[in-house]
Amino acid sequence: MATWNHKKTKLGYFLFVFVAVCHMFNHVHVDGRSISSSDETIKLAKHKGTIKTIQREDGDVIDCVDIYKQPAFDHPLLKNHTIQMKPSSYIGGIEAENFEPMFIQDWYENEQCPEGTIPIVRAQIPKPPRTLAFIPPRKDLDKDEIKADPPKNHEYAEVSVFDGNYFGAAAWLNVWNPATFGREFSLAQIWVVSGEEFSEYNTIEAGWITKSGQKQTRLFIYWTVSLLDPSCLMSSDGYQKTGCYNLDCPGFVQTSNKVGLGSVLQPISTYEGNQFEMHIYIHKDKQSGNWWLTIQQIDVGYWPGSIFSTLSDRADRLSWGGEIVNLQSQGHHTYTQMGSGHFPRERYTQASYIRNLRYTNESGFMKDVENVLPYVTRPECYDLQMGGMQNFGTHFFFGGPGYSDKCK
Ligand SMILES: *[C@@H]1O[C@H](CO)[C@@H](O)[C@H](O)[C@H]1NC(C)=O
Ligand SMILES: *[C@@H]1O[C@H](CO)[C@@H](O)[C@H](O)[C@H]1NC(C)=O
Repeated sequence: MATWNHKKTKLGYFLFVFVAVCHMFNHVHVDGRSISSSDETIKLAKHKGTIKTIQREDGDVIDCVDIYKQPAFDHPLLKNHTIQMKPSSYIGGIEAENFEPMFIQDWYENEQCPEGTIPIVRAQIPKPPRTLAFIPPRKDLDKDEIKADPPKNHEYAEVSVFDGNYFGAAAWLNVWNPATFGREFSLAQIWVVSGEEFSEYNTIEAGWITKSGQKQTRLFIYWTVSLLDPSCLMSSDGYQKTGCYNLDCPGFVQTSNKVGLGSVLQPISTYEGNQFEMHIYIHKDKQSGNWWLTIQQIDVGYWPGSIFSTLSDRADRLSWGGEIVNLQSQGHHTYTQMGSGHFPRERYTQASYIRNLRYTNESGFMKDVENVLPYVTRPECYDLQMGGMQNFGTHFFFGGPGYSDKCK
């Protein structure tokens, strides 16, 4: 087996903003935004509240923004919000995972955002397609009987638990750089979901993503607040359940001056070689009601419970897995890969995995997830296999190459 060399994990911090999602808010917190005539490239000027700007050789620009002037405070419900600088407890959480902090950011090593600021990305990027959480409704687990359709052109290989009372979710994901084409993306992530109906889903999501137009794999967060944040949700294309990436719209309160949401993760895993893993832990802080995001043991920030409807209480579903967009632009299934681009059955040391799936129960204990239900939209394109490794806890391998004789 390959060495699972955690200490060498290095998560670089180039920066990047997914700009397209919430136009309503962009003009609120960004001065001088300009859009090229093609609308493909959006240039962002300096963020409001910038105290220092870090320019990277590769073109990414990081604004170090006064923590009290960050986008979250443009949210109407967060006008008088007092920042919670640290979670009040880990409720039996990540310290039990027993690993050393390993977040190394190459931009951060050379030049840092000062204390009291948070890094926000400025970027010129192609507009990303919208993504959407899809979790099959609880009662319709048999794939053939799923009544709610997944969003058009989105494909999934994921596992879920539906048992009801979740106050946190965690896992290790090995990080890859799958090929993507056209305006498609490929990602691996954790979903924390609440809401009875698809139309009422609140979601909190975090993981890694690659998108065409950018070669690198980046850290992302995404969330959906279906009822309380209409300006984010009523997008111009009328697609109602969109949400927000990173700090693109007000909601997520960042506390860390080290982690750049939307920044590059590196290095990445190689076939037969070192597996570079990212640990993600999302949990609800019982005292404050905030949903904290912790990556590689660094508390990045939180979603205030007050911005959600159903998620202000608890999550009732958790999922882990991969998602791609298949736009069929060449008249057949896309070549966009999921995970490592290899099927789980091909070889375990070549496939993408998510391991040590855990959740936090109502009493605040971290527990291994059991009885997960796999959901795969097109196994001939991207598949999923449970288990097979010692010491990986509850885990699965997933992914695939996309287009082939069998995946058309
Ligand atoms: C914020 O505080 C002001 C002054 O106390 C108050 O009028 C306003 O309603 C508060 N806003 C929110 C969203 O709590
Ligand atoms: C949470 O897990 C702990 C440890 O297994 C257990 O003692 C406790 O009863 C659980 N709480 C609930 C609400 O199930």
